[in-house]
Amino acid sequence: MKFFIDTANIDEIREAHSMGMVDGVTTNPSLIAKEGRDFEDIIKEICQIVDGPISAEVISTDTEGMIKEARHLAKIHDNIVVKIPMIVDGLKATHRLAEEGIKTNVTLAFSPLQALMAAKAGATYISPFIGRLDDLSQEGLLLVEQIVEIYSNYAFDTEIIVASIRNPLHVLESALMGADIATIPFSVLGKLAAHPMTDKGLKAFLDDWEKTKK
Ligand code: E4P
Repeated sequence: MKFFIDTANIDEIREAHSMGMVDGVTTNPSLIAKEGRDFEDIIKEICQIVDGPISAEVISTDTEGMIKEARHLAKIHDNIVVKIPMIVDGLKATHRLAEEGIKTNVTLAFSPLQALMAAKAGATYISPFIGRLDDLSQEGLLLVEQIVEIYSNYAFDTEIIVASIRNPLHVLESALMGADIATIPFSVLGKLAAHPMTDKGLKAFLDDWEKTKK
C-alpha cells in the first residue's frame, strides 16, 4: 500500500518523508488556507521535497474554469495531480484532462457510483472521504470495499486514495481490502508507529542495560 500524507505543512511533510513514509502528498483548499502562505509557493516547495504524486485542487466549479486551472497547475511540475470535485462539471473536466494526459484526483467522493463514474471519465485517482461518512454514522470503510470490488470487476486503472482518514483502523482495514493508497494526516501517521508494548519493552531493555554498569 502506498502512503500519501494529507497536509500542506512543510515541516510535517519533511518529517514524514525522513521516515520513508511519503509516496505522495494530498492537499486541499482548507489545508492550504491553514498554512497562511501562497498556494503555488507551497505546491512548488512540496514538489522539491517529495518525488511522487502531489495533489493540488482547483477552485473553479465549471468545466472550462477547472480545465484552465488544471493546465496551469500541471505546468508547475510533472508530479502534479489536479484535484477535481466529484460534480458533473468535474467529470467533464476529468474526461477532457485525461485526453490531454493531465493526471486527476477526483475528490469528495461519497458513493460507489460516483467512483464508478470518475473511473469511466478517466480519473487517475479517486478519493473516497471515509471519515466524513463515519461522522454521519455511515460506514466509510464499506464505501472503500465497494469501490475496490467495482474497480476489480471491470479492471479500471483508476487508483483508490482512501481519504478523510481519522485513525489507524481506517488504514488497517483499507490495506486489508486492497485499497491502493491511504492519504494519512501527520497525527495519524504517528499513531500507526506507536505501541505501548514497544515503549514498555524498550524501557525494560535500557533499565537492564544500566544495571550492567554497576
Ligand atoms: C483528501 O484528499 C482530503 O484532503 C482529506 O483527506 C480530507 O480529510 P478531512 O475530512 O479530515 O478534512
